[in-house]
Amino acid sequence: MSFRKTKKIIEEGDVVILYLSPNKMHSLEVKAKISNKKDEIVDNVFQTTYGALKVISLIGQKYGSKVKLTRGWAYVLQPTPELWTLTLPHRTQIIYSPDISLIIHLMELKPGSVIIETGTGSGSLSHSLIRTIRPNGHLYTFDFHEQRVFIASAEFERHGLSNYVTLRKRDICLEGFGEDLKHKVDAVFLDLPHPWLAIEHATIALKEKGGKLCSFSPCIEQAQRTCAKLICEGFIELNTYECLQREMNVQYRSLSVLDLECLKYKHTNEDMARKNKKKQEEKLLTAIHTESLPGHTGFVTIATLPPCYARKQEKRESS
Ligand SMILES: C[S@@+](CC[C@H](N)C(=O)[O-])C[C@H]1O[C@@H](n2cnc3c(N)ncnc32)[C@H](O)[C@@H]1O
Repeated sequence: MSFRKTKKIIEEGDVVILYLSPNKMHSLEVKAKISNKKDEIVDNVFQTTYGALKVISLIGQKYGSKVKLTRGWAYVLQPTPELWTLTLPHRTQIIYSPDISLIIHLMELKPGSVIIETGTGSGSLSHSLIRTIRPNGHLYTFDFHEQRVFIASAEFERHGLSNYVTLRKRDICLEGFGEDLKHKVDAVFLDLPHPWLAIEHATIALKEKGGKLCSFSPCIEQAQRTCAKLICEGFIELNTYECLQREMNVQYRSLSVLDLECLKYKHTNEDMARKNKKKQEEKLLTAIHTESLPGHTGFVTIATLPPCYARKQEKRESS
């Protein structure tokens, strides 16, 4: 239940993040027993590169505290959607936090928003969407893959998020989002191989006052086809973005310093020039771009559906 509210102390049933280093984190469910590969019920002992952890020993520990492993130690953290994205079991390709934050910003989501997401996939984006629209908004998430729907549903339940999300198994390109969602939602998000097949259905689900449609596609050809269909369906203000993360490396470096006094006297006072030469290197705090640039993930297309009456008027004027 630790996703829903901030807690101080770890309780049985919580999902926690075991933090070994920035690149080594694991999510664990705090329970005494688990079933092994032979389907036998055994003690829940989690193995890490720094040794084993008896998971049940976490009960009563403070979130954020340091816990002992048999060959080292780790921090035990409260889960957030960002940490979940980094540690979740992958069933599909997932969307990562830099793209997720852009998507949430572009769709103008806030507490109270009612939104559609498809496909659910591994539920990476869903967790961030739920945090944004809580406590009085709702996420309707669709996937046509039965097992993915089943696992994601169990995860939402385990994370205490079931009240904010409805998960449905459906091929939305063929069947649409359902009669009960007609003109009910503020925004529709698509992460599908053929998003253009879902756009007409999205116009039915979006509120009569209009709303946002956002689509994530790895290939530019998919984004182009999506934009063409969006224009056909009356969407306006189309923009496609690529979010590239460029990190800064902050460190002390010895750098030569231009000594103006020294330069001034260089030709007249050799002594002073020699004295100042010693000062010509200084340790300075610098910030430079890292050499590697994390690669392409996908193109994020955002579009606005204007209110119904504006669309009808435009149709009348153009006919
Ligand atoms: C790339 S994954 C989505 C990953 C998700 N955004 C995340 O961050 O975890 C795409 C999902 O769309 C589902 N899908 C593909 N076509 C679909 C369709 N026509 N209707 C419903 N779901 C579909 C697939 O089963 C898959 O789980």
